[in-house]
Amino acid sequence: MKDILALIAEKQQTYSQLPFFQFLQDDSIHPIKRLAFAPCASPFIMSFTDLCKYILRQEPTNDKIQAILNQHTYEDDFHWQCFLEDMEKLGFNCSLQFNDALRFLWSEETKASRLLSYELYKYIAQSEPIEKLVILEAIEATANVCLSLTKQITDKLQLSNSQEYKFFGDYHLNLENTHNAHSHDLITFINNIYISEKTRQKCVGLVEKVFELFTQWTDSLLRYAQGYQLSQTSNLQLDRGQILEVA
Ligand SMILES: [Fe+2]
Ligand SMILES: [Fe+2]
Repeated sequence: MKDILALIAEKQQTYSQLPFFQFLQDDSIHPIKRLAFAPCASPFIMSFTDLCKYILRQEPTNDKIQAILNQHTYEDDFHWQCFLEDMEKLGFNCSLQFNDALRFLWSEETKASRLLSYELYKYIAQSEPIEKLVILEAIEATANVCLSLTKQITDKLQLSNSQEYKFFGDYHLNLENTHNAHSHDLITFINNIYISEKTRQKCVGLVEKVFELFTQWTDSLLRYAQGYQLSQTSNLQLDRGQILEVA
């Protein structure tokens, strides 16, 4: 498994260079406008809970790797609650008619966010526990890149308004960095798992696929956030917001 984890680290490095992450680091753009990708990301962020609860988790189990996966899903399946809190604090909880909300969630704009969930579902459903663990480690690697940068943005917002942004800030990043699967003992255990050549090849393919899917997702988030910057609604929201002075 050591090779596969090294491959994930290598892919993570390339992933961190994507235009979306440069956008998140662009201090010339107002912090709220950099986080304006959030509504577009919502279908995946909300679906990830279902992936944890109903697809990755399989109970009961006697399989040690499945047990690691199960524990991991309990640590990850409630983060959507922090996301909703942040949506409110960031001013993105605007009022929509139910049908308009459905139109948005199933729109072309949010397509990559939905497809990411469906494709991950497909790969997870076809996988053995060890392969699922590889998929989850790759997902975690992508999340770490994104949350490390959103944390810098929310740190800045917090300075001006003393609000805590749990999902995009410190709280969530800390939860992600303290997963039990990332404890010293389990990292050693996972690194030393023997996998056959056939499984290794499948895992390499899965890692590549996961990063490809997340890359497509970040491209759509960037497009959405850039579109938001140009929209009048966003300017109106910012004018009414309490944190304009951070820009
Ligand atoms: Fe999370
Ligand atoms: Fe996680």
